[in-house]
Amino acid sequence: MIICHCQNITDRDIDAAIDWMRAADDKTLITPGKIYRALGKAADCGGCMPLFLSTMRANDNLEVPMQLCNLRDRATQETHNERRQESY
Ligand code: FES
Repeated sequence: MIICHCQNITDRDIDAAIDWMRAADDKTLITPGKIYRALGKAADCGGCMPLFLSTMRANDNLEVPMQLCNLRDRATQETHNERRQESY
């Protein structure tokens, strides 16, 4: 099924790009921009983004790597202390 009509990208193209990127680097974050770049194309109107994203989410290889999960929580916890002494 064609997902992006401007660039003629199908759901199979998106799945192949995601699988290829995950096989090449298991820690990479996969974004729509990276998929366009991997396919040698660039987004034009952006009208396909909702369908493009839902097609991406349907791919099992899209998961965020465990090493990159909860990074925001860790960064937030570090700033609570601010390295002040308790008597400050
Ligand atoms: S339909 Fe995908 S960029 Fe226009």
